[in-house]
Amino acid sequence: MKKFNLLVSVIMLFAVLLSACKSNEPTPIVGEKTIENLKAAITGESNASVLYAIFSQKAKELGLNNIATMFAATSEAEKIHVNAHQAVLKELGVNNFVPVIENHIANNDMAKNLEDAIAGETYEFTEMYPKFIEVATAENIPDAVRSFERAMKAEMGHAKHYQAVLEIFQSLGHDATVSKTWYICPTCGDLEFAITVTRCPICGVNTENFIEFKNDELTPLEETIENLKAAITGESNASAMYAVFSQKAKELGLHNIATMFAATSEAEKIHVDAHQMVLKALGVGNFEPVIENHIADNDMVKNLEDAIAGETYEFTVMYPKFIEVATAANIPDAVRSFERAMKAEMSHAEHYQAVLEILQSTGNDSTVPGTWYICPTCGDLEFVITLARCPICGVNTGNFIVFN
Ligand SMILES: [Fe+2]
Ligand SMILES: [Fe+2]
Ligand SMILES: [Fe+2]
Ligand SMILES: [Fe+2]
Repeated sequence: MKKFNLLVSVIMLFAVLLSACKSNEPTPIVGEKTIENLKAAITGESNASVLYAIFSQKAKELGLNNIATMFAATSEAEKIHVNAHQAVLKELGVNNFVPVIENHIANNDMAKNLEDAIAGETYEFTEMYPKFIEVATAENIPDAVRSFERAMKAEMGHAKHYQAVLEIFQSLGHDATVSKTWYICPTCGDLEFAITVTRCPICGVNTENFIEFKNDELTPLEETIENLKAAITGESNASAMYAVFSQKAKELGLHNIATMFAATSEAEKIHVDAHQMVLKALGVGNFEPVIENHIADNDMVKNLEDAIAGETYEFTVMYPKFIEVATAANIPDAVRSFERAMKAEMSHAEHYQAVLEILQSTGNDSTVPGTWYICPTCGDLEFVITLARCPICGVNTGNFIVFN
């Protein structure tokens, strides 16, 4: 009996010890898995931020300033994700988690970097965040769910823009048609290149508070695109103006001058078309120039002087500058289009000057040639064909367009 009592006592003691052991086990921490996931997300986002800063720097080195601007924006966007996750972590009692930042290197091929960036974002929004959201939901931590959800949606936007930029870069080999301005939401890291709504599509913040990243630096290529647009605008307006001058000359009974301006009005259209083709080859489709309202003076001398001033500006100031920039940008098609137009403008100005002198000395245009020719390729103006080939572009003069 004594033995039995001892046995019972020993068993009871074990039971007590066992239960004591059990109660000494750490009680499960609230949101334990979510805390680990927040740390993982902070590490991922911090590394993405550093990676994009390096991609931005590399893009700048490669002269891809618009892509550099985009990556500068997303580098900041990822910091916003880091800070949002850190705030949730703090609420869960973990202060100042310090993530490990790896050593990131950018590829010299920007397409490769964009592909890497797309892969990273895609992993985050298709695998990582959906899993983290599921766990945080199960652990009932709404602030973590929200932080993960916002980051996930922002990453989808990043990937979408990277993909579009990659396609532009792959098809054109440059980034001149990539947006120069990028915006990020200060709350959720949403990325946009144009603000079209008043509230952030992800988190609802007023888009007036979006942070702007702007590339103010024009590469020679971008400058050439702007110059082509400027040249198209100038030439289109010159064409419209000469049509108006031609009409006015007709009204004034100056039929030979009317014919000459009809010819140069067409010549300027040839310059427009040539520049548009170069612009199109650079990936810029359908540039629509603004045509001003042109009025002719009743004094034809005044109109000729205006025409000479316009041509002189083009061949002494505008085109030499445009050629210089296009040469630096290494765009031979733009250089050639500018050079041909420049030389054609010299021929226009030369003839206008001769006609002006006739009009001033005789008061009429009866000794002005009644037939004018323009080169269909470069807009060269002649009143007599003495050569087999266009002196500017070499086209067979048999193809010159006749005005009489
Ligand atoms: Fe992110
Ligand atoms: Fe991202
Ligand atoms: Fe022209
Ligand atoms: Fe001209």
